[in-house]
Amino acid sequence: MTETFDAVDIIRTKRDKGTLSPEQIAWTIDAYTRGAIADEQMSALNMAILLNGMDREEISHWTTAMIASGERMDFASLGKATADKHSTGGVGDKITLPLAPLVAVFGVAVPQLSGRGLGHTGGTLDKLESIPGWRALLTNDEMLKQLADVGAVICAAGSGLAPADKKLYALRDVTGTVEAIPLIASSIMSKKIAEGTGALVLDVKVGSGAFMKDDRNARELAETMVALGKDAGVNTVALLTDMSTPLGLTAGNAIEVEESVEVLAGGGPEDVVELTVKLAEEMLQAAGVADADPAAALRDGRAMDVWKSMISAQGGDPDAPLPVARESEVVYAPADGVLVQLDALSVGVAAWRLGAGRARKEDAVQAGAGVRMHAKPGATVRAGEPLMTLLTDTPERFDRAKEALRDAVVIAPEGSRPGRLLIIDRIA
Ligand code: URA
Repeated sequence: MTETFDAVDIIRTKRDKGTLSPEQIAWTIDAYTRGAIADEQMSALNMAILLNGMDREEISHWTTAMIASGERMDFASLGKATADKHSTGGVGDKITLPLAPLVAVFGVAVPQLSGRGLGHTGGTLDKLESIPGWRALLTNDEMLKQLADVGAVICAAGSGLAPADKKLYALRDVTGTVEAIPLIASSIMSKKIAEGTGALVLDVKVGSGAFMKDDRNARELAETMVALGKDAGVNTVALLTDMSTPLGLTAGNAIEVEESVEVLAGGGPEDVVELTVKLAEEMLQAAGVADADPAAALRDGRAMDVWKSMISAQGGDPDAPLPVARESEVVYAPADGVLVQLDALSVGVAAWRLGAGRARKEDAVQAGAGVRMHAKPGATVRAGEPLMTLLTDTPERFDRAKEALRDAVVIAPEGSRPGRLLIIDRIA
C-alpha cells in the first residue's frame, strides 16, 4: 500500500521543533500499530517528543489517534453515573481497593481498569491476586454485569483498549522515553477515555516515589490530562498528592490488602483514610452526587459490604486468611528524635527487592513480601525501636533490601517537623 506520509519527514519535523498536523499524527499512530513505522523510527520520534515537547493540539490529536486504534467501551446501558480514579503510581498506594467499593455505596458505578506493577511501584492487580481465588480477567459482559449487580469492579484492562498504547508503552519502557509529559498524558487519557467513564479523578503523585519528582512537572502533567479529559466530554479533576513518603504503613501485596480492609472496617492509617475520603468526595461530586458522606460509609460498614460482594463476584474469598511471608527481619531506629524522612523510593525499591514487585513483566510476585512500617514522618522515635519489618519468602533478598534503605530514614532533634501536606493542590 502507498503510505500517505514518510516517517522520516515526521521525525525531522519534531527533531527541528516543528508542529505535526492532525493528519500526520493520525497516520503515525495507525502506521506504527500496523507495523508500517519501524520500532527504531518510533523510538527516534519519541525521543524528539521527549526533548522538544508537543503543543496541546498535538497532544489532543495524538490521544484521539490512540483511542481510535482500539475499541471504546460504553456503560450507557447501566443507567447509572460512572466514575473512575487513576493514580500515576506510588509506593504503598492501595487507595483503589477501599475507594472503588466506597464510591459504589452511593449508587455510582466504578469501572476500575487496573494494571500490574513494574519497577518499584506496586500494581493493584498484584495486590488483589493475593486474595485466594480472586481473578483479574473478566469479559466485557462480566464487567457490565458486576457493575449492575455490585456497582464496583477492579479488573485487568482487556487487550482491545488503545492497542497503540500497549505497543508504544513497551517501546518507551526500553528506550528511556517514558518520562515525556505529552506521552504520559496521552497514554493514560487514551485508556481512560476509551474505557467510557463519565467522570474521572486523577491522583497525580509528586515526590521521590513518583514519576514526577517536582511540583512543576506534576502540575503540567495534571493540567494536560484535565484538559484532554474535558475536551473528550469526561468530567475530569486532578489532585496533586505527596509521594515523598509511602502511603500508609505497608508496601507490598497481601499486607496492602490487609491495610485496605482495616480502612474499610473504619480504622487504618490516617493518611490512607484522608486520601480515600477526599478522592471519593471528588469522584462523587464529578459524577453529580451531592451531599454524600463517604467517611460515614467507612465507619458504618456499608463500604465493607460492597467490598465483600466485589471480591466474591470475582471468585475471591474476602474472609480467607491472606498469605504471610515465611521470613522477616526488623530494621531499628538508629537514634532518638523525630522521624522527619522515610523516603518513598527507597521503601518501594526495598519492597520490590524483597519480592513484592517484578523486574520483567513475565516475573511472578510474592504475595506476602514487602515492608511493614512502624512509624511515619512526624513520629517521635527512640534508638533501638523497630522502624520497619522486612518480609519475604526468600531470605537471601534481605541484604539488597537493606541496601536500598540505607539513606531512607532521617531522624532530627526533638521539636523538628517533617515535610509536607498530603494533598498539595487541586486542578480542575
Ligand atoms: N501510566 C501509563 O498508563 N502510561 C504512561 O505513560 C505512564 C504511566
